[in-house]
Amino acid sequence: MANSRGGFSNRLGFILAAAGSAVGLGNIWKFPFEVRDGGGAAFVVMYLGFCFILCTPVMATEIAIGRHTSKDPVGAFRKLGHKKWSFIGIMGVIAGMLILSFYNVVAGWTLGFAIEMFQGNFEVGSNFGSFVADWKTTGAYATAFMLATAFIVSNGVSAGIEKASKILMPTLLVMVLGLMLYALSLPGSAEGLYYYLVPNFSAITMETVYGALGQAFFSLSLGMGTLLTYGSYISKKENIITSSAFITIADVGIAFIGGLMMFSFLGFVAHEQNSSIMDFKGGAGMIFMLLPGSFSSLGPVLGSIIGGVFFVLLSFAALTSTVSLLEVPVAFVVDEMKVERKKAVWGVAAIIFAIGMPSLMSAGGVEFFTEIHFMDWVENIASNTMLPLGGFLISIYGAYVWKKKNLYAEIAEGNPNFKYTLLAKYMEFALKYLCPVILGSITIVTI
Ligand code: PHE
Repeated sequence: MANSRGGFSNRLGFILAAAGSAVGLGNIWKFPFEVRDGGGAAFVVMYLGFCFILCTPVMATEIAIGRHTSKDPVGAFRKLGHKKWSFIGIMGVIAGMLILSFYNVVAGWTLGFAIEMFQGNFEVGSNFGSFVADWKTTGAYATAFMLATAFIVSNGVSAGIEKASKILMPTLLVMVLGLMLYALSLPGSAEGLYYYLVPNFSAITMETVYGALGQAFFSLSLGMGTLLTYGSYISKKENIITSSAFITIADVGIAFIGGLMMFSFLGFVAHEQNSSIMDFKGGAGMIFMLLPGSFSSLGPVLGSIIGGVFFVLLSFAALTSTVSLLEVPVAFVVDEMKVERKKAVWGVAAIIFAIGMPSLMSAGGVEFFTEIHFMDWVENIASNTMLPLGGFLISIYGAYVWKKKNLYAEIAEGNPNFKYTLLAKYMEFALKYLCPVILGSITIVTI
């Protein structure tokens, strides 16, 4: 696409970039502790159900709105003549900035841990508290991560985002498969997998249901205009439906494989410590605290290689996601404020970095709100409330404001027979009734 906004050079580039956005810390860092606390396979099944039943139709709608308008998430609704609805885009830009502000901090930790592992410092896990408390050092890692993200985005869509995804995503796949096979061979892996693959229905509460839904949206980068923005860079020839299916399958596929890897590793940790996975303290620090110590028992050389590669894997997964998170506000500033891309990138990145300071410092023990941990608070509002709310509004918008006729006409550009398929009937039902009812009621409850 040779207009001034730039665009993906082909279908593979788009799918890899979108899958790169989806596959991230959400899959490998967040998924395991949510699964552990949410009833193992019971949570996994709910998550998969939400992804395919609710999220894929919303995803296709987001992509279609983006492609139809070739605009950022705010400009898109304006261009469609529904200026009032552009608040969906504004909310998305804000959600993206909030998510990136804390995500970048965690991404910085993964970078720091990779460096520590390669140096054979296995103590870093048991010293996690002092690692994050040293917020000047973690701040330096976070800075490095934001610089890398901004550098990629500043190079534009095809020479920056697409090119980085084409390198990072295949490497990531090789690393996650390799580590999974290795982890499966460790003692204790079978016990670990028990907590992943056997459902514990008694752990299901309303809270775990919201958790699974929030996780589905977060993991698919849905509800804040990421896919709308990426969709604005694709050609009319693309088949939006198969692309959405590919992106969803890539995301849940890596989450699933990542789960096999993580639960095998966690089982190994439990085996080493003579404890159970259920005894581990959950939350953001779980994998950082637990894994490094156990890597050491693989021997100094193998341990630092496996440990190092593991955290590089996390960094790579994070990087294609931070890139997409930055692209949303950047596209907004470029399209709506007519700022040149490079300037927009560095300005927006600096603002987001500043917003992330409280997360960085509160993780380091500098509490801002006495009772609440700032990072958890931002994470919870942005991913568990704003994303499903965004999904709710996008489904309403697609079904009742833009309307099926226009939405399906856009999809038909690259998929002429879509409207005659069963899938089209399902998508209509999902957007008109299923998504509004389920997402709406869940948003009301979480607020
Ligand atoms: N999907 C990413 C992950 O799983 C996070 C993300 C959320 C990225 C929203 C972009 C938008 O880690």
